[in-house]
This record gives sequence, structure tokens and C-alpha cells, in this order.
Amino acid sequence: MTQVFDYLKTMENKIHYYTNNENLASNPQQYTTKILNQEFTFKTDIGVFCKSYLDFGSNLLIEEFICPNVEGKYLDVGCGYGPIGISLSKVYNKEFLMLDINKRAVSLTKENIILNNALAQALESNVLDAVGDEHFACIISNPPIRAGKKVVYAIYEEAFNHLKENGELWIVIQKKQGAPSTMEKLESIFGNVSVIAKKKGYYIIKSVKKNLD
Ligand SMILES: C[S@@+](CC[C@H](N)C(=O)[O-])C[C@H]1O[C@@H](n2cnc3c(N)ncnc32)[C@H](O)[C@@H]1O
Repeated sequence: MTQVFDYLKTMENKIHYYTNNENLASNPQQYTTKILNQEFTFKTDIGVFCKSYLDFGSNLLIEEFICPNVEGKYLDVGCGYGPIGISLSKVYNKEFLMLDINKRAVSLTKENIILNNALAQALESNVLDAVGDEHFACIISNPPIRAGKKVVYAIYEEAFNHLKENGELWIVIQKKQGAPSTMEKLESIFGNVSVIAKKKGYYIIKSVKKNLD
């Protein structure tokens, strides 16, 4: 019996919101919320991040976000069911590409783009692999901390490679989940990092891809 419990515990620890599991049960639901004074409806399901409400950190990132003064498409990395990219696309009238490794999250984002009439496209992607050689005015992410530093730091490095000059990376991360080490990493990649806001242990952090000449 103990062995069965140990096995179940191990399996539970292995199944994260970013795991693609074709046998995962489905219980589609939707919620409606106001973001920056506009109403949004999001369809969600079992197996995606924060499926019943808008995550506190994601909401803080949306509220604190200011569009950079650069023309071009925006990118949401680790989009989940799509709340960040879809709401910012609608509020600021920006075109978004939205990426996630989780197939169910990508499929929900596609439905939510239509449901909310946003100018966006969603693709399945590990980190920024699906981007090709496209460059963005802005990259925004509530990064997948549970996927580990290797994945999170790859997102930062690839974000730098896929930003236009003066383009900006905006992220949200909790202090206890590594905000200080994220800031060191971003400083080493971009040569600059700023804390835009701090609330309840969540940091909103920005780095700019400055002219490197
Ligand atoms: C903290 S959640 C944020 C989800 C969504 N942006 C939100 O605010 O609700 C991080 C997301 O990153 C995705 N993710 C995990 N590993 C990834 C990877 N290697 N490449 C791309 N996305 C990944 C997860 O599936 C998850 O949806």
C-alpha cells in the first residue's frame, strides 16, 4: 500500500501544468473578468496554469505594463490559456504572437483569441523555438518557474535575441521564486534591469535591448 501511495505521489509531482498529457481529463469552464476596465471571457480547462481566475502576478504585470515606444508585433511567452496577450492586445490595439509548450493551453488560447476578438495568433513552442527569425517590439512573460532555471533563463536569452532595438522584455516573478537571481541574469544579458513595481512579493521587471554600438 505504501508503495502505491509513493508511486501516486511521484506521478503527481511529475504532472505539472506544462506537461502534455493526452489522457488528462477535461472539464472545460469559463470565467469573465474585468481587466483595465474591459470585460474578457476566458475558456479554461484542467491541466493549464491558474485555470479558475486571473493569476495575481499576471494581473499585476498587465496593470503595470506600459507599451514601449517601438513599432512591431508583441510576443507572450508561456501564454497559458492567453490572459496576458489577449487583454493587452485588446486594450492597446497590438498584434500578438502567443506561445506555450502545453498543447491544451495553445488550443484554449486559440479559442480565447476568437472569443475576445483579439488580434493574435497562438503556436505550440518550446521556449521561442517556433518564432523563426522574427523580431518583436516587446516580449512579455509570466515565466514557468516550475520548469526550472534552465528553461526560464533560455526564455530571457532568446527574448534578447528576438527583440528589436529598444524593444523591451517585461516579466513578473515572485521574490521567493527567484526575483533577485532573475535580475542578475537579465543585467548580464541586457546590461540593464529595472523593477517597475513590487506588490505582495511579486516583482514586475523590465529590461531594454538598447543600442549596442
Ligand atoms: C506561470 S504560467 C503563465 C501562464 C499564463 N501566461 C497566465 O498568465 O496565466 C507559465 C506557462 O509557461 C508554459 N511553459 C512551461 N514550459 C515552457 C517552455 N519550455 N516553453 C514555453 N512555454 C512553457 C506553461 O505551460 C505555462 O502555461
